[in-house]
Amino acid sequence: MRRSIRFLLGHEERELHDVDPTMTVLQYLRSEERKTGTKEGCAEGDCGACTVVIGEPDGERMRYRAVNACILFLPVLDGCQLITVEHLKREDGELHPVQRAMYELHASQCGFCTPGFVMSMLALYLNETSPSRDTICDALAGNLCRCTGYRPIIDAAQAMYDYDWQDPLRAREAETAARLTALRSEETLALVRGDRRYFAPQSVEALAELLAEYPRATLLAGGTDVGLWVTKLHQDLDTVVYLGAISELHTIVEGEAALEIGAGATYTEAFDALARHYPDFGELLRRLASTQIRNSGTIGGNIGNGSPIGDSMPVLIALGAELVLRSREGERRMPIEDYFIEYRKTALRPGEFIERIRVPYLAPEDQFRCYKISKRFDQDISAVCAAFKVRVEQGRVVDASIGFGGVAATPVRARATEAALKGQAWDEASIAKGEEALAAEFTPLTDMRASADYRRLVSTRLLRKFFVETVDLAEPTRVLAEEVV
Ligand SMILES: Cc1cc2nc3c(=O)[nH]c(=O)nc-3n(C[C@H](O)[C@H](O)[C@H](O)COP(=O)(O)OP(=O)(O)OC[C@H]3O[C@@H](n4cnc5c(N)ncnc54)[C@H](O)[C@@H]3O)c2cc1C
Ligand code: FES
Ligand code: FES
Repeated sequence: MRRSIRFLLGHEERELHDVDPTMTVLQYLRSEERKTGTKEGCAEGDCGACTVVIGEPDGERMRYRAVNACILFLPVLDGCQLITVEHLKREDGELHPVQRAMYELHASQCGFCTPGFVMSMLALYLNETSPSRDTICDALAGNLCRCTGYRPIIDAAQAMYDYDWQDPLRAREAETAARLTALRSEETLALVRGDRRYFAPQSVEALAELLAEYPRATLLAGGTDVGLWVTKLHQDLDTVVYLGAISELHTIVEGEAALEIGAGATYTEAFDALARHYPDFGELLRRLASTQIRNSGTIGGNIGNGSPIGDSMPVLIALGAELVLRSREGERRMPIEDYFIEYRKTALRPGEFIERIRVPYLAPEDQFRCYKISKRFDQDISAVCAAFKVRVEQGRVVDASIGFGGVAATPVRARATEAALKGQAWDEASIAKGEEALAAEFTPLTDMRASADYRRLVSTRLLRKFFVETVDLAEPTRVLAEEVV
């Protein structure tokens, strides 16, 4: 087993032996490297002040993504390149176009948020050549500025493409990719410091073996939930097993009847396939957290966390998704709704992990929509999240599956409402009955996000919205049915 982590800080190689497994990249940069350009605002992934760019090899090219350093554990950098705001200026002193545009368009006042914006813009600059305003806004939605205002920052993100510039990161990418590939290893990374242990297996088999030895270890995927247990709840995680280095867990396979998503695939990695097969899910994912969080966070982690207000679960419930769980003993499968037992309690057994999620494709006659109700459009947690899939044949509902978040202690399937709709005409009268069933089906809580009454009311309104949006699409079948009759 390997006992040290190796990565590139800019273009300089680092090898660290005595690593605290849950030290964050932000703490490392500021306290060990004395690189204080990266700021701490919230320490919980919300404000973007700590944004850095991570590079990973992809053949001879490099993939760059913006992430929040405040909730990223240092060992996750193993085999990666870390780029901070200090690496942007060229050796001859010339500012990077991102910096120049921010400066020339007056996009900074107190400057506290500026390095974070600059790094989000750098990732955009490296990945897109001519982004739309919407794409720019999506890229910056995870960065908060309290004094400049966003207009000049967005202007700067548009203007940064106007400067003549040969980007040094792209110019050196083949060399960087080769260096990182040489740093990587098939061996499990195993770090021990005092009572704390951190493992990064490189295959599903090695993971299953490790979990047989440490059945109660904390599984770490993107760390966008687990990171906060350390930075906000000050939990001491004694054994952490990182899943991100296992390439099999990142795979997305378009099978014959279903899309299979590896539990370690990030939202960003899974986005294209999900948006193509289930377009409304794509729209919802654009509103899930921020670019930085989506670049780290995984669907497997969303399910693993089992939060009643996680966004992907209601959608996956409505789509009829199945979880494939694995341990050294083998594989077992279950419908996703059976995974959630009670508040934050799941069906996962010690030594087990979610390996992949099977999501059946929609049939042409299926109507499917999902809705997220939150106080802000971007970067906000749902008060209620709902997803509906209904199949109408000859004017009648022949199948309905409905998933909800934010209305019970777990993500839930609205079985009573489904039963009220099945076999009924797809019309106003049935929807009224469906609303009645839905209002009685759950007992939501009142909390800072919404009152129980609001949650109940909005749930029924979402069912109605779904009906209004889809009734005309189902209409051709109904008209046909009437003609036949
Ligand atoms: C600023 C911010 C905004 C957010 N916004 C949203 C939002 O809008 N909507 C939303 O739903 N969530 C949101 N989240 C929560 C979080 O990003 C998601 O829940 C994310 O999907 C977690 O994935 P992860 O890979 O980071 O999981 P991790 O933090 O690594 O793990 C989360 C949990 O899942 C377990 N786990 C991870 N992988 C597996 C596996 N393969 N098998 C079994 N268990 C596993 C872990 O042990 C842990 O219990 C937000 C978080 C932050 C910090
Ligand atoms: S410090 Fe706010 S997102 Fe990291
Ligand atoms: S410039 Fe002050 S917070 Fe953005």
